[in-house]
Amino acid sequence: MSETASITLNGKTLELPVITGTENEKAIDISKLRDQSGYITLDIGYKNTGATQSAITFLDGENGVLKHRGYKIEDLAEKSTFLEVAYLLIYGHLPSKEVLEKFRADIKAQMLVHEDMKIFFAGFPSKSHPMGQLSCLVGALSAFYPESLNPNQTEEEENKTIINLLGKMPTIVSWIQKKSLGHPVVYPKKDLGYIDNFMNMIFGEVNSDKTFDPVIIDAMHKLLILHADHEQNCSTSTVRIVGSSNANLYASVSAGINALWGPLHGGANQAVIEMLEDIKNDGGDVEKYLAKAKDKNDPFRLMGFGHRVYKNFDPRAKIIKKACDDILEKLGVQDPVLDIAKKLEEAALSDQYFIDRKLYPNVDFYSGIIYRALGFNSDMFTVLFALGRLPGWIAQWKEMRDKKEPIGRPRQVYNGEIDRVYTDISTR
Ligand code: CMC
Repeated sequence: MSETASITLNGKTLELPVITGTENEKAIDISKLRDQSGYITLDIGYKNTGATQSAITFLDGENGVLKHRGYKIEDLAEKSTFLEVAYLLIYGHLPSKEVLEKFRADIKAQMLVHEDMKIFFAGFPSKSHPMGQLSCLVGALSAFYPESLNPNQTEEEENKTIINLLGKMPTIVSWIQKKSLGHPVVYPKKDLGYIDNFMNMIFGEVNSDKTFDPVIIDAMHKLLILHADHEQNCSTSTVRIVGSSNANLYASVSAGINALWGPLHGGANQAVIEMLEDIKNDGGDVEKYLAKAKDKNDPFRLMGFGHRVYKNFDPRAKIIKKACDDILEKLGVQDPVLDIAKKLEEAALSDQYFIDRKLYPNVDFYSGIIYRALGFNSDMFTVLFALGRLPGWIAQWKEMRDKKEPIGRPRQVYNGEIDRVYTDISTR
């Protein structure tokens, strides 16, 4: 007999179906509750609400497990490449060698961005935040590829849009970095791979043979893979909910970029490095900042700490911490903020406030130190997060479309004024 949950409201008992996921997680299906009882559920911040059934990413926050399409993040970060993981997320299975080659070639063929995009891009002030520029440019792609507006695209047409966005995103990101430096943009090259091309467009040709240090390329693959998807987080839920109105992929991803920007989400990686800098410049007293983070009258939070879902450890943070040590050592970079980061982590992990609330370093705690060692400005860090998250957003948008999910539309409990009498402005 299938499991059910009973709820009794005003003496009437309703049986609600229980849904069991393939990793045995449980949910009570309340989708008919209002029709049957007139009641809705209230869950501010969706802390306990499943918005969909998804086959893309599995996350067990208690045990620090993250898998994409059934593959462990540790294996993907160690052995795979960013575009292979992108393929896996979007299409649901690992590609054969030939399929992956074609996928790479198709994406490379779309890396050039329409020259007219440069006209309005030139209008952004050079100091405007990269995330604002990125969301505008990605949204604007819909104007250059209006065929994407058709919500009834064939699979082939939809794929073209997906490939186009994957191809153009690194080029757009490189434009933004170049503008901040006042440098001319660098065009993508046919003979370079996705990441090499990206690094070349950002930093120019480092070696005479046009290759980058494999340590750097490997670090970029790792960082992007670790950010590639994270199930129904704030930006991904935004992409799905915007896409559920049949908005095109560019518009949906542009909305996701804006959601990611906030310092409580992807913007944390920039905020972490700025916080570590502040602590260093303030004499390096980590206890002082721990005290501030614990003080409820102080808005300061320890950036890069805590997670809505992980309540033991963030598996991505474990991988990144090691990658950070390896990369700094291999590149011979000595970054004093790394020492502050380690001291802060050690102090927080043995502090009762953080222990009680299960607050651990998240993926963003160490990523900024690596990005900085690679030569990126701190306001570019969240843009790099977006580049990594792109395949996840696309996969989630596509899954929602393929399953023909209904438009997202939460309810509310109204608690405002009722039945006020309108008076003319002259009598007020
Ligand atoms: N520093 C100090 N206290 C904290 C922190 C922190 N970083 N995070 C949570 N708390 C406290 C919070 O004050 C609350 O305490 P109390 O129960 O006494 O009121 C308790 O821990 C629970 O916090 P919450 O805000 O209810 O938890 P949440 O699940 O709503 O928020 C979070 C999760 C990630 C937004 C939060 O931990 C935070 O603000 N962290 C800092 C920002 C950050 O690093 N964000 C990146 C997240 S990982 C990248 C991504 O995928 O977005």
